[in-house]
Amino acid sequence: MEKSKKPKPSSKSRSRQPGSAAFAEFMTSNWENHPDNQALDFIPEKQFAAARRKKLSQRFPHDRLLIFAGETKVRANDIDYKFRPHSAFVHMTGLGMDYEPGAVLMFEPVSVRQNYKDKKKLHTHMCTLYIEPMKDRTTDEFYKSAKYDEFWIGKKPSLQMFEIATGIRVLPKSELKDVLKKNIDILGKTRMISEESSDEKLLEACAELRLVKDSWGIKQLENAVKVTKEGFEDVIRAIPKLTEQPRSEKAIEGIFAAKALAKGNGVGYESIVASGEHATTLHWMRNTGVLHRGELLLLDAGVEMDSLYTADITRTLPISGEFTHCQRKVYDIVLQAANTAFRQARPGNTFGSVHDAAMRVIAQGLIDLNILKISLEEALSENGGQHRRWMCHGTSHHLGLDCHDCADARRSEYIDGILEPGMVFTIEPGLYFKHDDMLVPREFRGIGVRIEDDVVITDDGVRNLSEEIPRNPEHVESWMKILWSS
Ligand code: GLY
Ligand code: MN
Ligand code: MN
Repeated sequence: MEKSKKPKPSSKSRSRQPGSAAFAEFMTSNWENHPDNQALDFIPEKQFAAARRKKLSQRFPHDRLLIFAGETKVRANDIDYKFRPHSAFVHMTGLGMDYEPGAVLMFEPVSVRQNYKDKKKLHTHMCTLYIEPMKDRTTDEFYKSAKYDEFWIGKKPSLQMFEIATGIRVLPKSELKDVLKKNIDILGKTRMISEESSDEKLLEACAELRLVKDSWGIKQLENAVKVTKEGFEDVIRAIPKLTEQPRSEKAIEGIFAAKALAKGNGVGYESIVASGEHATTLHWMRNTGVLHRGELLLLDAGVEMDSLYTADITRTLPISGEFTHCQRKVYDIVLQAANTAFRQARPGNTFGSVHDAAMRVIAQGLIDLNILKISLEEALSENGGQHRRWMCHGTSHHLGLDCHDCADARRSEYIDGILEPGMVFTIEPGLYFKHDDMLVPREFRGIGVRIEDDVVITDDGVRNLSEEIPRNPEHVESWMKILWSS
């Protein structure tokens, strides 16, 4: 049997690039000489990343740490997805956008550099960023590879530019191999985060260091929410002319994405544009449906800034501009659950208790609607949970560089963790009644509602980063009316 071969991301079967020396000479000559000053499109706030590196360094004083940005991922054959660096790399370097495939951030214990043999003196690290420099313009490495060469992918910033932007020493990637062989005898562990394998403790530490956002991170999230509001407003303006149009969900997705691209790096996750019954499918992302008069549109979308911080907002909008009686009943329960969760979200309470507070309201609301036909105590007991049939997701998740941020943090620090000022997370209860759910009265079937806000814990409570995006039903209706009349 033939051995299976690794798929080659090549275009060999159709490439017609000439290979002669004369062609190489022709392609590499007569280019103007530019100064080496290709700026980064995105300049990070370097002192914030420096402070984060210091904290990580303190967690592993003896160890060599390697954080790989990652490589481009193949979409099919020789076409890649847009590159997205690992969030730990982004957090520790401050680099955003698509910087930089193949890059590696190394933390080397300082005493190693100073040749101390006494491990007790290992107390800090020197950081170096290893980056593949752009290839020489005078060789065929200028134009041959569609994946790596300047001719295809554009000029990239020089190592010096990366150094200026990040404040980290930058060296060519080719030097990393030899450096890794050095000092092994006097180092603690070598821990890494890479696509091939990652050290659990390092992953945990990087995630936990992101649980509390610094002022730069919060500012980025504020900006992301602000632009997300603009995206929602563009969507609302378009609703009347898209109602009853084929694939109007797709059109809505495009309208939101246009704002995200114009003002940031793009969307932070696949937008959920769920009209009518689609809203009861939690991960509806096909977005091929039609907006119908009288139904609801659940839009879950967030703009990701160039820094890669993303918003994550849901609003449930009446397509005709006003909620029906039944829609409003469901909406009011979800809003009450959200408001209860807001009151629970303050320093000293656990993250998990925010969910518990919301679920109590959801369960009681279902009892009041005569859908849940057991007592509140039974539903909330360990062997209960029946109300989860109609809201089977968590009320909150941390938010930041990843939509579901800090996912590698330990349970003790995440769900059982105590809320602290600077933590940013979502509050997003919902109720979802599928069209064929025989436990639900007919008038409620096919209704799905979620209200999702992004909040930051303050010294004495919580601040809703998305408070400018209307969420009370009367405010939603008047917001839509104003946008439709202007
Ligand atoms: N949009 C994904 C979420 O809300 O968690
Ligand atoms: Mn969310
Ligand atoms: Mn969401």
